Amino acid sequence: MEDRATVLVVDDELGSRESLRFTLKPSFDVYTSEDGEQALRFIQQKPVDIVTLDLRMPGIPGIEVLKGIKKIDPDIEVIIITAYATVDSCLEAIRWGVFNYITKPFHPIDVISTIKKSVEKRRQTKTLKTFIKKIAATESHLDHRIMQFAQHKFVKSSNSQMDFVRVLVATIERRDPYTWGHSQRVSQQSFLLAERLHLSGEERAQIQLAAYLHDIGKIGLNDTYIYKRGSLTKLEWTMMKKHPEMAVELLSPLALSPSTISIIRHHHEHFDGKGYPDGLRGKEIPLGARIVGICDAYDAMISDRPYRKALSKSQSISELKRCSGLQFDPEVTGVFMEVLEDER
Ligand SMILES: [Fe+2]
Repeated sequence: MEDRATVLVVDDELGSRESLRFTLKPSFDVYTSEDGEQALRFIQQKPVDIVTLDLRMPGIPGIEVLKGIKKIDPDIEVIIITAYATVDSCLEAIRWGVFNYITKPFHPIDVISTIKKSVEKRRQTKTLKTFIKKIAATESHLDHRIMQFAQHKFVKSSNSQMDFVRVLVATIERRDPYTWGHSQRVSQQSFLLAERLHLSGEERAQIQLAAYLHDIGKIGLNDTYIYKRGSLTKLEWTMMKKHPEMAVELLSPLALSPSTISIIRHHHEHFDGKGYPDGLRGKEIPLGARIVGICDAYDAMISDRPYRKALSKSQSISELKRCSGLQFDPEVTGVFMEVLEDER
């Protein structure tokens, strides 16, 4: 699947079978079956990425073949190619997780582009499963019901791995009233700050995403001290400080851009070099990380924490100003004041 995807064409008409084979051969490894029974037998014996399926065939009806395929391997993407599309058959196919529906006579370009999209979706699903395995292996404390819920919601609501990650972050935050919505707020505010700093659309998008994921490494930590009321022991603090690196490790299967990853890694660096994990100082710290760092700190200040009440907005602003040049980049702090001013 890494290089050439394998496509199985299932169609009882020799003409369409051969024309599909001819169309797809340059881009994919193509096999053909002339009925459902043969197709299901084939899939049990050989790994297949994508199936194109005719609905009206002698023997097992197309919809039943679709169900059979999904039972053997739910991640195989199925594209229906038929001359007999009805609303009912469409609905039934969607219910069984069909990727797309193409009506005959088909245009070769449509078929190729649909198959390419389905290959991409299958690749994403694989990546996601590796990611989930990685989280599950890292995290013995994380409630498996949370993972299942996030996964279930992903399957129901979307096709993109980023949507899944968002659902996962939201689900994890839901464990704790103190962090509820934190990532979302930091993400929104970081985006506004990046806009004020006239960063490009691409940079803003990277910052927004990194801000959303900045604390995902905390899922590798024990709940008891993430939400501890008193101060952390030295060992707990050492563990806590590993969360940016843990996030980078967890997110590695998702192939995010290096800039996004670097913002996540460095969101706890301080302008004076006293932060972690690498003790970067000043402009050595990626600008995105300086942006996310200040928005993260501000949101934490204005929120209740298990060990203290929320600060007021003006107290928080004084604190940011006091830490400008120490924890925060003075220029970024100045522009952030303007963003906060706009909110009033
Ligand atoms: Fe953090």
